[in-house]
Amino acid sequence: FEDFKIISTASSVPDRVVDNDELSTMMDTSDEWITQRTGIKQRHVAVDETTSSLATKVAEELLEKSGLKPTDIDLIVVATMSPDYLTPSVGAIVQGNIGATNAIGFDIDAACSGFVYALKVARQMLMADHNMHAIVIGAETLSKLVDWHDRSTAVLFGDGAAGMLISNEQEPGTFISEDLTTLGNLGKYLTAGQVGVKSPFAADDTQYSPFFKMNGHRVYGFAVKNVPASINRALAKAKMSVDDIDHFVLHQANERIIEKIAETLGAPMTKFPLNINEYGNTSAASEPILFAELVEKQIIKRGDVVALSGFGGGLTVGTMIIKY
Ligand code: ACO
Repeated sequence: FEDFKIISTASSVPDRVVDNDELSTMMDTSDEWITQRTGIKQRHVAVDETTSSLATKVAEELLEKSGLKPTDIDLIVVATMSPDYLTPSVGAIVQGNIGATNAIGFDIDAACSGFVYALKVARQMLMADHNMHAIVIGAETLSKLVDWHDRSTAVLFGDGAAGMLISNEQEPGTFISEDLTTLGNLGKYLTAGQVGVKSPFAADDTQYSPFFKMNGHRVYGFAVKNVPASINRALAKAKMSVDDIDHFVLHQANERIIEKIAETLGAPMTKFPLNINEYGNTSAASEPILFAELVEKQIIKRGDVVALSGFGGGLTVGTMIIKY
C-alpha cells in the first residue's frame, strides 16, 4: 500500500461560547485588542466536556458518515497536548468508548503541529500493513491549561476536536508530499502542563506549572519564517508551485501570522480560509476543524489539492500536501 484515502471528516466543539466582550469582564483586555492582534472574536470552552468526550463524538460521527462499524477500525491516533490523563491515552479511551475492539489506540503530542504528525504516523502504519481503516483525530481542551488571569495567553485559546477516517483500501492518490521539522532547542518559548515531581526524594524547588507560558514574539517570528519554508520544501518535493494548491489549511493561531505567510509565499489570501474568529487557537484540532468545515460547505471538493500546515509547541512545524 502506498497511499491513503480520506473517507469521512467530522468535528465537535463545546456548546459554551465565550466572546471577547465576556473575557473583557474577567481581565484587562478588549474586543478591539484581541480582534486587531489575532482575528479572534470568540472561542468554544468546555463546561463538562473533556478531550476524550469531544474526540469520541468525532469518532462516532466519522463512523456514521462512512457507514463503517466500530470493529472495522484498526487504528485510532489522537493528536493532543491536553489529554484527560497521562494514561490512559485519549486514543485508548475513544477505542473503549466506541467499542473499536480490533483497533489499537494511542496519542501523539506535537502541539499545534499534532494533526499533521498524527496523519504521517497513521499513513505510514497503513502503508506497512493489510487493508486498514484508521481514525485520526486532533482534540484539545486547552481551557484547562490556560491561566485565566493571564491576558497575554487566555484570549488566544479554545477547545474542540475534529478528524478524518482514512483507509488504504480504496483508490490511491491522496498523499502528495510532506515536510515535518522539530526545533527542540526552541521548546522553551512555548510550554504548558509542566508535570512536577512530588516525591519524598524530590528537591524542594521542583517546578510545577500547569499553565501556558509563551514568548509570543518568538513564536510569531518562528511561525512566519518556518511555515512558508516548510510549505516551500513540501512543494519542491512534489515539483509543484503555490499556484497548484487550491486551499492552504493552516493552523489557526493568529490571522496576522496567516496573512504574513500568504504574503511570503506570494499566494492570495483567498486561498487561505480562516475560522479563527469563531474558535480561537485549538492547537491540534485547528486544521481538522477547518478542513471538516470546508468539506461540509463543499468549498473543499474531491480532487482539490490542499496544503495542511501546523506549527507550535516543540517547537514543531508540519506540512502535508494532499489531494482530497
Ligand atoms: N489585551 C490587552 N492588552 C494586551 C493583551 C490582551 N489580551 N495581551 C497583551 N497585551 C498588551 C501587552 O501587555 C503589551 O502592553 P505594553 O506595550 O504596555 O507592554 C501590548 O499589549 C503589546 O503586547 P505584545 O505581546 O507586544 O503584542 P503582540 O502584537 O506581539 O501580539 C500575540 C501578541 C498575539 C500573542 C502575538 O505575539 C502572537 O500571536 N504570537 C504568536 C503566538 C502563537 O501563535 N502561539 C500559539 C502557538 S500554537 C501552540 O503550539 C499552542
